[in-house]
Amino acid sequence: MSSLMNPSFSTLPNHSISIPNNKNRFATTLVSCTSPTFNPSSSDDLNNTNNHSPPPPNIKHEARRHRDAHNFTAKYVPFNAGFDSTESYSLDEIVYRSRSGGLLDVEHDMEALKRFDGAYWRTLFDSRVGRTTWPYGSGVWSKKEWVLPEIDPDDIVSAFEGNSNLFWAERFGKEKCVGMNDLWVKHCGISHTGSFKDLGMTVLVSQVNRLRKMNRPVVGVGCASTGDTSAALSAYCAMAGIPSIVFLPANKISTAQLIQPVSNGALVLSIDTDFDGCMKLIREITAELPIYLANSLNSLRLEGQKTAAIEILQQFNWEVPDWVVVPGGNLGNIYAFYKGFKMCKDLGLVEKIPRLVCAQAANANPLYLYYKNGWKDYKAVKAKTTFASAIQIGDPVSIDRAVHALRNSEGIVEEATEEELMDSAQQADTTGMFTCPHTGVALRALIKLRNKGVIGARERVVVVSTAHGLKFVQSKIDYHSGAIPGMGRFANPPVSVKADFGSVMDKLKDFLRDKSPISSPTQVS
Ligand SMILES: Cc1ncc(COP(=O)(O)O)c(C=O)c1O
Repeated sequence: MSSLMNPSFSTLPNHSISIPNNKNRFATTLVSCTSPTFNPSSSDDLNNTNNHSPPPPNIKHEARRHRDAHNFTAKYVPFNAGFDSTESYSLDEIVYRSRSGGLLDVEHDMEALKRFDGAYWRTLFDSRVGRTTWPYGSGVWSKKEWVLPEIDPDDIVSAFEGNSNLFWAERFGKEKCVGMNDLWVKHCGISHTGSFKDLGMTVLVSQVNRLRKMNRPVVGVGCASTGDTSAALSAYCAMAGIPSIVFLPANKISTAQLIQPVSNGALVLSIDTDFDGCMKLIREITAELPIYLANSLNSLRLEGQKTAAIEILQQFNWEVPDWVVVPGGNLGNIYAFYKGFKMCKDLGLVEKIPRLVCAQAANANPLYLYYKNGWKDYKAVKAKTTFASAIQIGDPVSIDRAVHALRNSEGIVEEATEEELMDSAQQADTTGMFTCPHTGVALRALIKLRNKGVIGARERVVVVSTAHGLKFVQSKIDYHSGAIPGMGRFANPPVSVKADFGSVMDKLKDFLRDKSPISSPTQVS
């Protein structure tokens, strides 16, 4: 008992841990990875490629042998339904809206989950990090009991997403945020398709895979997208052999984002409208055709996205940061973070939740305006063009979810202008990151709150970086080349130089003149 309860897990087997029926059985129900029927080192098992023999065992076969025996469940309920509401739907139903037309939420059987204490869940989740065990090697599926408890591991479509790095932004914090020394950037964009969307899409496409195996009428999966959702959808559908259809606003997404669904074999419809126009169309189309809707209106995605919050706590050894800053567009992600933190609190893994900041581009800021107006008289806006193109949304689907998240976390909304977001992204890049414009929005929101003294120098802050900077190189090229009028304060364009020793030396001397520790040109001559 004692060695198995030891969080260092030196004696834990490296395969699945089945869920006991009560707290006391925890130590005795850990399942050994030793299989009586498959010996991985046996040459007979591995080398037998004869057509009449079963396929060689793989991690999914192993998972089948170690299926969880538990009775956790989840269902759809109307978002923010009162205690007296009885409306609910099985996750195997195809439903996106409540009877009254409102948003849905995935509700877990918290009483069943509460039969295990916080220490149990912390230890279980920690034991799964970084393994190849199917499906727990994924940062999302390592929390399977809290995500889609009832799905069969065989139906899961995963690229072992999540487990993204938490970067200590030492120089950025110290130099750009008035002496902060506990600033972290959660790099959700260092991921399979280069954005946090992978976290939600693995869940949604897995559920679709399950529905198709149950012969439900789903001919394909579709979404409207500002770029990253379509990339994730098409990749996960391609993994499972499911047709995907994406509606993209013509000329409003980056080239990298466009080429991702094209490469993954999706039907890409480039439509002469903005995101809000694409969203309206896909909703009309999915009401007519058996195409499953993959937008974050669909609450399944948020179940995967919430695991990034749990992961942050895990990475801090279950210590709670003071603030988490999230860039927001359609506003599903800010709610997903809230939900992840809240579940950890409600299930006893931590004692409080962080304060949330939602950061918007000033050119697409309906939530910011609503917040500034004391949450009165919400109005959608016509979003203007922004370099943070993935959050160029004027009529966010998850507005109610975001307001709930912010009001229940003492949250704040901040905004960044085009110049501010591009400058902040560049300032971050000079400290070793390679940020996308959305991360620039979040970083500038932090700087503003730090300058106003709302966030203290010693507080622990996590900024969520939602996409990889490599998806947005054109905006960086334009910034550095001076192609954007009035912008480029921190530009660092390439220096043209003649191909001779003297010319190169002259440039180097200029460059090194004011660089410490080499303080005078004579030292480098
Ligand atoms: C890179 C990036 N950042 C932020 C967001 C905003 O997330 P949400 O729409 O859930 O607010 C998106 C969504 O498309 C995105 O792609």
